[in-house]
Amino acid sequence: MTQDELKQAVADAALAYIRPRLENDTVLGIGTGSTANLFIDALAQIKGQINATVASSEASAQRLKGHGIPVYELNTVDRVDFYIDGADESNRALQLIKGGGAALTREKIVAAVAQEFICIADESKLVHTLGQFPLPVEVIPMARSHVARELVKLGGDPVYREGVVTDNGNVILDVFNFSIPQPLTMEEKINNITGVVTNGLFALKPADVLLLGTAEGVKTLRAEIRAASPERSC
Ligand code: A5P
Repeated sequence: MTQDELKQAVADAALAYIRPRLENDTVLGIGTGSTANLFIDALAQIKGQINATVASSEASAQRLKGHGIPVYELNTVDRVDFYIDGADESNRALQLIKGGGAALTREKIVAAVAQEFICIADESKLVHTLGQFPLPVEVIPMARSHVARELVKLGGDPVYREGVVTDNGNVILDVFNFSIPQPLTMEEKINNITGVVTNGLFALKPADVLLLGTAEGVKTLRAEIRAASPERSC
């Protein structure tokens, strides 16, 4: 199967996962990126059953509205039941790197509110140690050079993503050559740099479920091994 076919398979699997769990008042959080786009298109098949969505980017909001699916501001809903989104990388504890599409801050906000985060990805995204994909960091523009110097001190090679302005009016530094064996610690360290809005590590609040598209079919991974992580127990 091609990567696009695997993405389509996980988008369809996410629809099958949430469909029997939908209630009249369910609020869905919708992510950003090519896999999330396929999920949005799948969701259109049952749009009459969708009470409300909140989107993690302007692009996803526009796509949802284009299908006639209701989209609300996060501040106007009292909860988010499920958040469905892709990832750039996942380890087996379902800690993620996200933000390849520059939507990491809104993605992290919606994920923080959600009761269940369902990640959808093809098998190329599953890695042993996070960091082969350059880690996106959203930065207040005037702090760009300062944050870059601090990221070098942490061992990475930050590169300014030229020409990209986030939905929040900020810029992105992508951190290359940055193996991340301790994602919890690194997420906190980077967020503590003055001028950082957030970083693309989703370790403090990882996914709850990973629907992984493989040549053998879609596998459902849950984050049971997180509790056994030495980093978490210290
Ligand atoms: C958007 O900012 C990202 O977090 C995406 O969720 C991530 O890049 C996955 O994108 P694809 O589904 O396009 O691979």
